[in-house]
Amino acid sequence: MTFAAVILAAGQGTRLKSNLPKVLHRLAGRPLVTYAIEAAQAVVQTPPVLVIGHGAEDVRAALGESVRYAVQAEQLGTGHAVWMAAELLRGQAKYVFVTYGDTPLVKPETLRALAEAQQQNTGPITLLSIDAPELYDFGRIERDAAGRVTGIVELAQATAAQKAITEKNVGAYCFEAEWLWAHLPQLPASPKGEFYLTDTIAQAVAEGRHVQTVKTTDLAETLGVNTRAQLAQAEKLLRERINAHWLAEGVTLIDPTTAYIEPTVRLGRDTIIWPNVHLQGQTVIGENCVIGPNCIIRDTMMGAGCHIEASVLEGAWLAEAVEVGPFAHLRKGARLERGVHMGNFGEVKNSTLGPGVKMGHFSYIGDAVIGAETNIGAGTITCNFDGVKKNKTVIGENAFIGSDTMLVAPVTLGNGARTGAGSVVTKNVPDDSLAVGLPARVIRKLK
Ligand code: UD1
Ligand code: CA
Repeated sequence: MTFAAVILAAGQGTRLKSNLPKVLHRLAGRPLVTYAIEAAQAVVQTPPVLVIGHGAEDVRAALGESVRYAVQAEQLGTGHAVWMAAELLRGQAKYVFVTYGDTPLVKPETLRALAEAQQQNTGPITLLSIDAPELYDFGRIERDAAGRVTGIVELAQATAAQKAITEKNVGAYCFEAEWLWAHLPQLPASPKGEFYLTDTIAQAVAEGRHVQTVKTTDLAETLGVNTRAQLAQAEKLLRERINAHWLAEGVTLIDPTTAYIEPTVRLGRDTIIWPNVHLQGQTVIGENCVIGPNCIIRDTMMGAGCHIEASVLEGAWLAEAVEVGPFAHLRKGARLERGVHMGNFGEVKNSTLGPGVKMGHFSYIGDAVIGAETNIGAGTITCNFDGVKKNKTVIGENAFIGSDTMLVAPVTLGNGARTGAGSVVTKNVPDDSLAVGLPARVIRKLK
């Protein structure tokens, strides 16, 4: 196997002033370090090695087996951190990427470009740079008169002349693996007693080897999250990137600055997203849907042609042409079949509403199965919890549940059953029968 990856994530993130390790802070709903991991995964064949230190146990618990771990007990610098991965990776790959876990917006294409350049490079290092005077606290890339890279100088050590250098070190590298493992133990200590990965450049140059750069022009790629302000900045840049993608894929965003679409979400073409819509987690939206304004939709699948307005959907499944809202709440296990209409102030949990069911106003449906074309009157409640356990309500097809009906579960209502307004249904209602009262009793057969 040719490429391996090391992602540095041992630092504390002091400036976030947080009890949570820096790399677990959420960016578009997922731990910050997830982005560096996924970018690396796109270019390597084995799980990346994450170097952890501060909050190591929390990081392991959050990320699990998707990566391998190397522990850096004491944060002695980025060069020292990479060395912690040597034991796991030595002899395993011809080239090693190194990226920083707090730099989430480096693209897989960029790592691929680094890999290609490194495969052609006669020297041991290819690194990512950018011409950006505004990146004040970044390492400066020094070049000689012929334009060859001679070293990287960190801001703290830079002279006035070096501070004026506009070419900066983004913090993504592709190294020749054996060279890297041989040279890391020989890094000099910085004035602060740290071992900087960036000093490998001077090591290579001292041996007369060539250091190659790949340049990016995308400032987003350089953003390192060291503060909460930078975290907010990353959130904005990532959102812009995601929204540009969906606009290019044929999705209308009425106002892209207020469409909050997590990277895990999928959208069908000709869908229209109104302002202030949050699409989160494993959400999949079909074609020709109209979503919003004002929706939170999490871990929900919906087919084509659905309309959702000012509602909260979590863990729900919707077939095609379903209408929801305004002010509806779908919870885990809500399943709305084709053409369901669910109006305002309804809640559905762990229940199936069959094709064409209408539930216009003020209802709670929990642990229920409702047959096709049934009408749920305003204020209908499934009393599903007896204080100990949840009980099931079953309603047949073409039933008509009168306003303010209490369905005391477990209870079954047949096809074509009707209840009168204000009924409290404690016993099963047969097919084609009308039940009324408190508790409701069957008063007559309808057919
Ligand atoms: C680093 C680079 C700098 C570059 C900048 C880009 C070095 C010495 N400098 O500076 O040239 O312009 O990134 O953002 O590499 N880490 C560890 N263990 C350590 C120290 C750091 O795992 O002992 C991790 C941190 O958690 C972080 C990453 O390495 O994820 C970068 O460290 P940080 O201290 O933020 O480096 P910068 O000062 O930003
Ligand atoms: Ca940093």
